[in-house]
Amino acid sequence: MTTLGTPLSPTATRVMLLGSGELGKEVLIALQRLGVETIAVDRYENAPGQQVAHHGRTIAMSDPEQLKALIEAEKPQLVVPEIEAIATPMLQQLEEAGTVRVIPTARAARLTMDREGIRRLAAETLGLPTSPYKFCDSLAELQAAIDAGIGYPCIVKPVMSSSGKGQSRIDGPADVQKAWDYAMAGGRVSHGRVIVEGFIDFDYEITLLTVRALAADGTVQTQFCAPIGHVQVSGDYVESWQPHPMAPAALEKAQRIAQAVTADLGGQGLFGVELFVKGDQVWFSEVSPRPHDTGMVTMATQWQNEFELHARAILGLPVDTTLKSPGASAVIYGGVDAQGIVFDGVAHALQVPGSDVRLFGKPESFVKRRMGVALAHAADVETARRNAKEAASRVEPRIA
Ligand SMILES: Nc1ncnc2c1ncn2[C@@H]1O[C@H](COP(=O)(O)OP(=O)(O)OP(=O)(O)O)[C@@H](O)[C@H]1O
Ligand SMILES: [Mg+2]
Repeated sequence: MTTLGTPLSPTATRVMLLGSGELGKEVLIALQRLGVETIAVDRYENAPGQQVAHHGRTIAMSDPEQLKALIEAEKPQLVVPEIEAIATPMLQQLEEAGTVRVIPTARAARLTMDREGIRRLAAETLGLPTSPYKFCDSLAELQAAIDAGIGYPCIVKPVMSSSGKGQSRIDGPADVQKAWDYAMAGGRVSHGRVIVEGFIDFDYEITLLTVRALAADGTVQTQFCAPIGHVQVSGDYVESWQPHPMAPAALEKAQRIAQAVTADLGGQGLFGVELFVKGDQVWFSEVSPRPHDTGMVTMATQWQNEFELHARAILGLPVDTTLKSPGASAVIYGGVDAQGIVFDGVAHALQVPGSDVRLFGKPESFVKRRMGVALAHAADVETARRNAKEAASRVEPRIA
């Protein structure tokens, strides 16, 4: 698709985002800039992306019938999943029937919606290095898996969860029951399946943003952004920076792994490939077939940020993954449980050299909900990290 139409006219190029949080909002803005007509879908009203799209729709995206009815009514050319909790088998049906094209593919959305599909693909089909792992359906199975070889320390995660929800580390036999109960409470759906993974004692972890986009000859080419380093607290990202320095051998392995997994998932678009690195050793952890939260740093560091890269790649346009400047991002949490909160200190934050701030506009704040992000570019990553954290700390959310 290289012909673009006029929004709100019969020629419109129509794109539907399934999930309209802070990442979807930026994809929508990138699409708006290309004159694409956008439909922002979420499970609640006034989600960030709905505030910048032509149309906002609110449905339960995990309900196949609601999803089908909406896609058939809106007739988008492209459906772009932004979250994992979607009725992906229905997307696959609609894609097979030729009703719609799913980004990057319906199969990729299905395989990455729970930890089992993508882990088995990466480790068992593609033979990529991963942590040792086992899937378990009961506390007894979990204990048996640990005893039979996973060992301590290890990490337990519900198969359906993200942002570290329900995830915990087990250091010894005394922690097993607690980790199981925590996983049962934190999973997205009630069925009690978990993955237990051997703990990888990595030097650092990166997100390798990988783009599959059309080249001039019409074939899909894979391009990589500079590695993004990040810090996770309780499985949730709090800080990221780009570029993260890597030994050439490790970078080459990382790119080879990212190339293999994204080629198998197929389609066009940007992927966030999460990797653990120790010396020259690289392990695949997981992949998002869409922009990645740690990649928000690219709004300060790249000529085309990850959202613009995704928008261009899915429309069949060329992309440029070049770095513009070292930079960093730091998350701004709500700090309070309330609706319609206000933010003090934004001017003070923006006085930090090279800084910028995004406030997502979420209608409701929670203490640990991500409400915004501070960005900074600088001559080096250390300065950028310090400045991004300083800017984030100056933004003070409070109850109005
Ligand atoms: N096997 C492991 N060994 C060591 N650390 C791990 C392992 N698995 C996960 N972690 C740590 O926990 C973090 C979150 O894990 P993972 O990415 O699997 O969870 P997630 O809920 O999908 O998180 P997100 O949605 O934020 O990506 C990782 O980025 C890493 O820091
Ligand atoms: Mg992750």
